[in-house]
Amino acid sequence: MNRRPLPDFLRLARATSSLEPPFAVVDLDAFDANAADLLRLAAGKPLRLASKSVRCRVLAERALAAGFRGVLAFTLPEALWLDDHGTEDVVVAYPSTDATALAAAAGRPVTLMVDCEAHLDAAPRGARVCLDVDAGWWPLGGRIRIGARRSPVRTPAAAAALARAALARGLLVDGVMAYEAQIAGVGDAPPGHPLYGAAVRAMQAASARELARRRGAVVAAVRAVAPLRFVNGGGTGSVARTAADPAVSEVAAGSGLFAPTLFDAYRAWPPRPAAFFVLPVVRKPSAGTATVLGGGYVASGAPGRDRLPRPVHPPGLRLDRTEGAGEVQTPLLGDGAAGLAVGDRVWFRHAKAGELCERFDSLALVARDALVDVVPTYRGEGRAFL
Ligand SMILES: Cc1ncc(COP(=O)(O)O)c(C=O)c1O
Repeated sequence: MNRRPLPDFLRLARATSSLEPPFAVVDLDAFDANAADLLRLAAGKPLRLASKSVRCRVLAERALAAGFRGVLAFTLPEALWLDDHGTEDVVVAYPSTDATALAAAAGRPVTLMVDCEAHLDAAPRGARVCLDVDAGWWPLGGRIRIGARRSPVRTPAAAAALARAALARGLLVDGVMAYEAQIAGVGDAPPGHPLYGAAVRAMQAASARELARRRGAVVAAVRAVAPLRFVNGGGTGSVARTAADPAVSEVAAGSGLFAPTLFDAYRAWPPRPAAFFVLPVVRKPSAGTATVLGGGYVASGAPGRDRLPRPVHPPGLRLDRTEGAGEVQTPLLGDGAAGLAVGDRVWFRHAKAGELCERFDSLALVARDALVDVVPTYRGEGRAFL
């Protein structure tokens, strides 16, 4: 596997030596290189920024300045807040039942996600809506269902019917979204599991063939009812593949900017690790154990070891199997632990991207050898949307 090397931690450590851990760091050189790679992989199709995977306005604006176009927000209150701050072209990726936010969305230039008549009924009149279409793969006549359980809308006829129902309520059908989680969000080369990786690749190839036909037919059926401004698909793990689908006008991406550990398992494009958090060693229970403060930042999804944070510097550290990553302290084992003393710093990577920002008020931004800024996360701005 052509996994990216880790950055030069001495450079990052020197740049952040004045900060008191715990703190979170983004290596701007890696972030910018990842943004450039993602844009290149999209081969001219616009990339819409999945904001859940960044959760920091300064870095979202940096991605937009680099060439991303528009934002795929994760809640309606977030979308309205971004719009208040002048962010243009915000599409909410998930349906909302927040009556207060839906009322506040009337007349605002944000696009709501819908997949059923209840969503249409809740949308303010005149609102822009995007139809969420299931992009899962259902082989064996639907006896097996692979993919995220999202929208009940799957066929061209169902999508066209929902578009007509939206128009009948005075809504504007702005776009279609069909996110292939089983391709974009599942690593196809999990380290240490070659057979499983081969099975994932076979599944993804078959799913992509099925989706290429169905997504095209869905878009044609909806276009016969309403002109569409955009057709969104994909994510970090599928940018090149999704951009190649002629039915898709734009691809969503976010996680590839931070490159958390779950994205190490992709063959097509391994992004550069760009986001880290740093914890202090606070005690030494034994000569071969170093215990750091905090660290229990476990990622969402089906629980498993791949959701745990990973100590990456100094090298030779691992979590204790019985304690994992703890709420208030995390013991570290391995060859590297003996060399650590109280007060030393350990660098970690999170398994997912934006969730890191729910643990820190700010991100320290490093460019080359220097700490260039410390900027607030959403949480640091007092906004924990999810
Ligand atoms: C609708 C949608 N599009 C795209 C993505 C991909 O985002 P990322 O590039 O951060 O993996 C996600 C992630 O869950 C999503 O829910």
